[in-house]
Amino acid sequence: MIYKAVTSSILVLLFTALIIVQAGCTKKENSAMTNDEMLARGKYLVRLGGCNDCHSPKIYTAYGPVADTTRLLSGHPEDLALPKIDTSMIQPGMWVMGNSHFTAWVGPWGASFTANLTPDEPTGIGTWTEDVFINSLRTGKHMGVGRPILPPMPWADIGKTSDEDLKAIFAYLKSLPPIRNAVPSPIPPNKLMAGK
Ligand code: HEC
Repeated sequence: MIYKAVTSSILVLLFTALIIVQAGCTKKENSAMTNDEMLARGKYLVRLGGCNDCHSPKIYTAYGPVADTTRLLSGHPEDLALPKIDTSMIQPGMWVMGNSHFTAWVGPWGASFTANLTPDEPTGIGTWTEDVFINSLRTGKHMGVGRPILPPMPWADIGKTSDEDLKAIFAYLKSLPPIRNAVPSPIPPNKLMAGK
């Protein structure tokens, strides 16, 4: 009788332990990605988020513009001159216009140029921490603390992505080859309207 009671208590204990161990494993599987999985997830999200559409210079093919794979995500090319702008076209209620690379944009906010998202230190996100990256996209402020981030950067939607996914995007961007390209500062509307 005693023998039977002890055996069943041991069985209950073993069973409980098994459940706890199993729960622990499942939790670990869901929350921790390996570094490779994180980079693959980041690459996937960058594609889905259309980051190349605006942050990569283009090559024109018979089918239209495609991202120039030699300078992916390096932002508006520093040496590219802006075509002449008819400022009557960009008054409020008129047009918003982009250049042929989709890297320079003009509208009632002035002119904005897409950032260099490669890990080059002086010109890209090389010195940024994960927190700076996440805060910039969550707050819509340059590096999370500075001037407002200008259109057409879709920070409000991208900033609603989970911490885990934003970290994966950041890890992927940091894994790119660094490209030196000093993107120009935005031009405020009064300067742009005055012909720069
Ligand atoms: C429709 C065009 C467009 C798309 C799509 C886009 N961006 Fe941008 N992005 C911009 C522009 C324009 C700027 C520069 C804004 C400025 O100077 O205020 C910018 C700036 C940024 C910055 C700098 C923010 C700062 O603190 O100054 C980061 C980081 C960024 N984009 C990340 C991304 C990521 C990641 C994606 C894809 C998930 C993405 N962008 C997709 C247009 C775009």
